[in-house]
Amino acid sequence: MSNVVIVGTQWGDEGKGKIVDLLSEFADIVVRFQGGNNAGHTMVVNGKQFISHLVPSGILQKKICLIGNGVVVDPAVLLEEIDYLNSKGIDIGPEKLRISEKAHIIMPYHKQVDLAREKMNGDKKIGTTGRGIGPSYEDKATRRGIRFVELLDSEVFSERVDIILKEKNFYLKNYLSSDTLDFNEIIDLYKNYSKKLAPYITNISIVIDEAIKAGKQILFEGAQGTHLDIDHGTYPYVTSSNTVSGNACCGAGIGPKEITGVIGIVKAYTTRVGQGPFPAELFDATGDKIQKNGAEFGATTGRKRRCGWLDTVMLRNSVRLNGLTGLAVTKLDVLGGIKSLNICTGYEYDGSIIHDFPANLKVLAACKPIYETMLGWSEDISSIRKIEGLPQNTRNYLSRIEELIKTPVNIVSVGPGRDETIVINNPF
Ligand code: GDP
Ligand code: IMO
Ligand code: MG
Repeated sequence: MSNVVIVGTQWGDEGKGKIVDLLSEFADIVVRFQGGNNAGHTMVVNGKQFISHLVPSGILQKKICLIGNGVVVDPAVLLEEIDYLNSKGIDIGPEKLRISEKAHIIMPYHKQVDLAREKMNGDKKIGTTGRGIGPSYEDKATRRGIRFVELLDSEVFSERVDIILKEKNFYLKNYLSSDTLDFNEIIDLYKNYSKKLAPYITNISIVIDEAIKAGKQILFEGAQGTHLDIDHGTYPYVTSSNTVSGNACCGAGIGPKEITGVIGIVKAYTTRVGQGPFPAELFDATGDKIQKNGAEFGATTGRKRRCGWLDTVMLRNSVRLNGLTGLAVTKLDVLGGIKSLNICTGYEYDGSIIHDFPANLKVLAACKPIYETMLGWSEDISSIRKIEGLPQNTRNYLSRIEELIKTPVNIVSVGPGRDETIVINNPF
């Protein structure tokens, strides 16, 4: 019996959605445990693309999908996603999707504060997705949040909104010079959400516990990436939740002894959306080529992703922070046709060599990558399904990653489609 956590090792968009969709075949339940609709997870099955922001990527494999207490949920986005999936013929009724009663709700003022703050901060902005994620987690921590369990009780919900909105409107108007929000409009809107979502709300910790006791297998789907983690990422250029594997337990309501494996998703190069330092970033024609060949545009905001070489300083950090048991290397096909490939193995800072990812952002921003150069390959590898079938230089690239970060590659992805995959060792 296996329960596996899947996390991003870089700055998000590593291809978690694809690998979660693939491995969901072997799971009974798929759980999102943090983040919100800042995530954009892409699945491609039989040539058809699906992007999910909140619903776990196990839905296409018809698995039970749970949204954990650690997630912040925008009910409008969730309902849209339910309608979208239903319109595609994917059944997503309350027997398939459950939402934790303890998950916090994204309110209209969260989005408004997020956008107005970013505008006010100008070139000092974080480059958030503007979905209200940070302000929602902020309210959770300061005990001004509203959970689904409160949404279901209209009296309590009105009382909470009444108190919180006064403060939010004061802040929006007087500090952020933004529009204020109307109490009655919010109440009416959320009454409607409450009615529609009530059948989905439950205690998912109990659902998971009962499933584990019945011998079922659980897949925990991380969002964002390790270097966007609120504690361990490039703070303050991070998201507002813990993205590392340890949070799967807290954000779903289970104990750590249940986890049997942790797979880190590694894009074969590095990308980042939004602001913040990126030592191995490319500003040349190779960077443009990777951006173009990899179609590196954000699945949530459509922004162009910044591209750079693979950075094993970051990856070693991810191995330790997540306790990775294996890797899934994605988008390897995108590197085809690049004559020589660089792998960052360390940073040079102020005349010395650094091997550990620094916490000080001024230091990180001044770090110069130290590269090891490997021969690339020109073959199209997207139709290859066995590791032995890959060109020798491609295999050398994978082996070098394993050596440098001392973690085995379990899965290799050579295209966006579910079937465009080489499974070396299935974690389930
Ligand atoms: P996530 O946020 O980690 O789930 O990743 P995204 O879905 O935001 O971004 C990954 C993008 O790469 C999506 O468009 C995927 O369809 C695509 N993708 C995933 N794996 C591969 C791969 O091996 N090769 C190629 N070419 N594209 C891939
Ligand atoms: P998936 O799950 C890539 C980035 C934003 C910004 C920072 C803070 O698809 O990998 P936020 O809206 O969370 O307050 O923004 O985090 N970010 C992501 N980047 N992939 C994501 O999710 C991201 N979710 C947030 O671009 O830099
Ligand atoms: Mg994404």
